[in-house]
Amino acid sequence: MNETDVLDVIKKRRSIRKYTDRAVTDEQIRQLLEAAMAAPSASNIQPWEFVVVKDPDLKRQLAQTHTWSSMAADAAVVFVVCGDEPASHHWVEDTSAATENLLLAATALGLGAVWVGIYPTAAREVHVRRVLDIPEEIRVLCLVPVGHPAESKPPRTQYKESKAHYDRW
Ligand SMILES: Cc1cc2nc3c(=O)[nH]c(=O)nc-3n(C[C@H](O)[C@H](O)[C@H](O)COP(=O)(O)O)c2cc1C
Repeated sequence: MNETDVLDVIKKRRSIRKYTDRAVTDEQIRQLLEAAMAAPSASNIQPWEFVVVKDPDLKRQLAQTHTWSSMAADAAVVFVVCGDEPASHHWVEDTSAATENLLLAATALGLGAVWVGIYPTAAREVHVRRVLDIPEEIRVLCLVPVGHPAESKPPRTQYKESKAHYDRW
């Protein structure tokens, strides 16, 4: 893959919330996890943990976490991105970097995915923790439902010249 391909994938990544019934293979799941775990992390602590959910009933329960998580029920697989808080003060940044890598890798594989926010809303985290038996010290950053896309969105940046400040503010 060359530089242009990477920049194309970054712009192609969009929030995909509709999926077909087609399965995501174990090989693809492994590729997504490898991409997530290629992310940078403070002091290289790698405080991330992932729960890979394929069970239909568990996906349905995750879909009920909040108003904007319903697509999780229809995804082939839901990645639950978690952080080991006692291991690192930077668990939020590190797991966010891993999440973006996962989203970009899904795009590169022709899959659709979306970041579903859990942290920092306590009630959402309590729900996901209870559904999946996640230990108390492990924090839940987000859900990433992944499937074969049943909607398409155009590639784009949201570049705004006014957001960039050169040399001084
Ligand atoms: C921290 C965070 C939380 C988000 N939470 C949700 C969510 O709960 N449900 C959802 O459908 N999309 C969620 N999104 C996706 C955003 O709505 C989406 O990224 C934004 O509208 C831009 O669209 P794009 O991803 O297609 O570029 C979230 C994104 C981020 C970064």
